Amino acid sequence: MSAFRDGLLEGRTAFIAGGTSGINLGIAKRMAELGARVAVAGRDPEKARRAAAEIGRGAAGYSCDVRDYAATRAAMEQIHAAWGPMHIVVSGAAGNFLAPAAGLSANGFKTVVDIDLLGTFNVFRGCYDLIAKPGASLIAITAGQAVNPTMLQIHACAAKAGVNQVVRVLAMEWGPEGVRVNGVSPGPIAGTEGMARLAPNEAVTKAITGRIALRRFGEIDEIAESAVFLCSDSAAYITGTILECDGGSQLGDARNPMERA
Ligand code: NAP
Ligand code: COA
Repeated sequence: MSAFRDGLLEGRTAFIAGGTSGINLGIAKRMAELGARVAVAGRDPEKARRAAAEIGRGAAGYSCDVRDYAATRAAMEQIHAAWGPMHIVVSGAAGNFLAPAAGLSANGFKTVVDIDLLGTFNVFRGCYDLIAKPGASLIAITAGQAVNPTMLQIHACAAKAGVNQVVRVLAMEWGPEGVRVNGVSPGPIAGTEGMARLAPNEAVTKAITGRIALRRFGEIDEIAESAVFLCSDSAAYITGTILECDGGSQLGDARNPMERA
């Protein structure tokens, strides 16, 4: 159930890096439903084309690897040329897998850091002179791993911790120009590639759910609502924050001592 009125994002353009599947595609769809002109990008051009068709409402799909600054910048330049200054930029591309540190190669670590952290820098740095000033809202999709050390995810923990700091530093540097920079930190979200990788069976899913205060996985739509809030005028005085939309996951293990015994 959404509290947002129809047409809330009318007249705004949004670029969602990594918006061709999962949570980010959900964000793209919701922004389009609320009136924004939406462009999504991922590595796979066919997936990007399908995502744009699924979003409808004139959405555009681009292909670029966020690890490649020039390619990412080129996609955003095309959007700017077609639609003018961007009002909303979401950096959501990420890679993750479970691997013990002792079994992870330097390239495996680097790959995830490059997609999540360097990719977020590339998207935000690349859009700097292509966004509406004042008024633009930049949003990074981060994760609880940024704050909570998580075994088998040393790569994602390091990468997302960096993403949170990118958000905070840019909020300070670009705030004077009227640009807001925030993060959304989803908890475990049902039906996503991320959870297929991190909770690969029923037992793990049950164990994770049992420790969350709200005792359930989140929905893609719930993350989309948080992203919409942050880029709406209702959040006009909010910058440099990480909005945890995670059912209380970051509070820690929400079983009482009797349940734990
Ligand atoms: P997903 O469906 O795998 O989406 C990843 C998106 O990023 C796809 O559009 C993918 O398209 C794109 N992508 C991946 N590598 C890329 C690259 N190098 N350059 C450009 N695009 C790239 O993932 P998800 O599970 O929905 O997760 C989305 C975001 O939410 C991520 O930032 C993730 O860390 C965060 N998150 C997810 C969960 C969860 O429960 N799923 C929890 C916390 C945080 P291509 O494959 O075509 O490139
Ligand atoms: N365990 C350990 N290492 C792994 C691994 C795993 N499950 N998967 C990949 N790696 C390592 C590879 O072995 C390689 O290192 P090496 O050269 O030393 O052997 C390195 O990571 C890069 O792998 P590669 O397959 O070339 O990377 P890629 O750039 O093609 O793909 C990934 C990036 C690995 C992150 C891939 O899983 C991906 O594209 N993910 C996007 C979707 C996703 O993760 N969604 C969830 C978001 S939360």
